[in-house]
Amino acid sequence: MIGIFDSGFGGLTIFKEIEKTLPDYNYVYLGDNDRAPYGNSSQAVIFNQTKQAVDYLFNQGCFLIILACHTASAEALRKIQQEYLPSKWPGKNVLGVIRPLAEEASQLSNNKSIVVLGTNSTVESGAYIRELKEQDKALETVQRACPLLVPIVENSKEANPATKEILKEYIRELKGYQPDTVILGCTHYGWLTEQIQQEFGNQVLILNSGSVVANKLKNYLQRHSNMVKLAGSEVKRTFLTTGDSHIFDSAAEKFLGRIITSKKINLNEYE
Ligand code: DGL
Repeated sequence: MIGIFDSGFGGLTIFKEIEKTLPDYNYVYLGDNDRAPYGNSSQAVIFNQTKQAVDYLFNQGCFLIILACHTASAEALRKIQQEYLPSKWPGKNVLGVIRPLAEEASQLSNNKSIVVLGTNSTVESGAYIRELKEQDKALETVQRACPLLVPIVENSKEANPATKEILKEYIRELKGYQPDTVILGCTHYGWLTEQIQQEFGNQVLILNSGSVVANKLKNYLQRHSNMVKLAGSEVKRTFLTTGDSHIFDSAAEKFLGRIITSKKINLNEYE
């Protein structure tokens, strides 16, 4: 079973592409809706909450966990991989979304000018800047925190005229750097791809985070076939939330376009 973790609903956009690309696995999706958003929290809080989710998912029998949340990937992944897994979960792995997107952006950018849009925490962590520099020292990356975009998507206000104005304001200065590639460094921003594309213009490539992550995961699973456990005769999809399961189910229906029945769990005391 593969675990997919996000602070809330947004990671379902990543799950959707993973499920499409790799349908023959069992998946458990966990949204920490009760404690979302993560995007304005401190590194210590994000690490602790992500660690609880990781413990929970490994205890459910996952062989691999994807942090679909950019904020958790930025603030918790490195420490989990380097300090936590070797002692607590040897032989298991947790992957994030930042490296796959940085690899893709560095391969696709011609003029080496990249823009990253993300939450406050992701931008402040500098994780994308670090990762992109590791890919290619010549890359010039400009980041912008867009804290108003998560509530816009959560409240289905994508088509609201005010959203266009907010995007204009966020993007206006960034165009001056003449990026040719944009990373949507937050699970929710994929819902605004069209509007973001309009603001940057058609000559700029907006990466589709879900399909990039899904293709990189496919490649990872091929290279790590020893750890892989395919589903049996019946593939299973399990949806867990720390929030209200009815609210989760109706949001999940919007993201996935099908009926979802989730189960509420408690991560607060989980060690
Ligand atoms: N999932 C978060 C991310 O990708 C966005 C929502 C939040 O702030 O929790 O950064």
